[in-house]
Amino acid sequence: MMYIDRFTQIFKRTFNREPAYIARAPGRVNMLGEHVDYNDGLVLPAAIDRAVYIAFAPAETRHSSILAVNMNQRVAFTPTTISTRSQIDSTPLPDWARYPAGVMWSLSESGLKVCAMNAVFASDVPIGAGLSSSAAVEMAFTVAWQTLGRWTLPPMRLALLAQKAENEYVGVKSGIMDQFASACGVEGKLLLLDCRSLAWKTLALPASVSIVIADTSVRRKLTSGEYNQRRAACEEAVRLLRRDLPSIRSLRDVSVEDFNRLEKNLPREIGRRARHAVEEIARMRHAEWSLEAGDIRVFGGLMNECHASLRDLYEVSCPELDAMARIAQGLEGCYGARLTGAGFGGCTVNAVEKNLAQEFSSTLAKKYKAETGLTPQIYISHPSNGAGLLRR
Ligand code: GLA
Repeated sequence: MMYIDRFTQIFKRTFNREPAYIARAPGRVNMLGEHVDYNDGLVLPAAIDRAVYIAFAPAETRHSSILAVNMNQRVAFTPTTISTRSQIDSTPLPDWARYPAGVMWSLSESGLKVCAMNAVFASDVPIGAGLSSSAAVEMAFTVAWQTLGRWTLPPMRLALLAQKAENEYVGVKSGIMDQFASACGVEGKLLLLDCRSLAWKTLALPASVSIVIADTSVRRKLTSGEYNQRRAACEEAVRLLRRDLPSIRSLRDVSVEDFNRLEKNLPREIGRRARHAVEEIARMRHAEWSLEAGDIRVFGGLMNECHASLRDLYEVSCPELDAMARIAQGLEGCYGARLTGAGFGGCTVNAVEKNLAQEFSSTLAKKYKAETGLTPQIYISHPSNGAGLLRR
């Protein structure tokens, strides 16, 4: 958690004035429904208590100046310079700055007023850990430009604008889940989103259950290529399955029964990818019933199945994530454990009996370290509210 006073100090030192506003946009953890948002499926994320904090004010210059505290780097750009991904001095935008620049681009494309801004931001969402640090940055800047532009859109609409930045400016063809969770989070609740209709509602874990996030400390670079390939494989499966099921629009429309019958017509790898998506969407239906019935054992079992499917069919796990999930699944008080987010490194999410959560966390850390030699970060997480201003 950033200390707001210290943060205000940094803004003052950088821009010689007080920030006009401070906003917060959280990361997210996904409990179930992985790699199905871009298949029109159902997802079950929660905004978490780790977030991006941004202090900002209108700029008197034509350009926006942004300081990333975590990187100790400052950039300056205008709507014109970002069209060539550069700054006002013609140097290229560093990678992290593509997120704020992408948001500026997306908002301007939609005809919204985007003022020049001075901003300082920092994050305690670990980067590249599957907790949507980039969606949190995007949502923080979306909220900041909304505030300065004096226009107001519903949170879901803000999430779609941030997703457009990610898809079309940053170039990752992600679904809507991360920006949605960061925008629409509700304290203490999980969010069940239908990625086709964008209808959503809250669901809760039983009060006796904690969400434990376990960071393997492994980071994979260049995952956007792998991610886009998985998405393309699902689209190819839809194209091929349409020969027998002409009315389908996405894997959401394919039942497990139809898939079992038709998988033989697909190339093997495409078949494995599509099977994960079809079965994961079916698992999400069971998950909704199980949580409504308060049956955490059934829900936890679905989490474990999801991990196996991501490992064996979708092939987005790695040995460290597999070790973390396997060790957790064998510990007392653990109902379910699986990798969360896009995969290829990062975190697992665990549903754990509340009064055993501390002991679970320390045993998991010890055993993981003994097996892999790596020191993990393990924390008990609490669902938080979505992005918004902290003070005016
Ligand atoms: C990333 C993407 C999301 C989603 C997950 C996998 O976090 O940004 O849209 O596809 O991967 O479920």
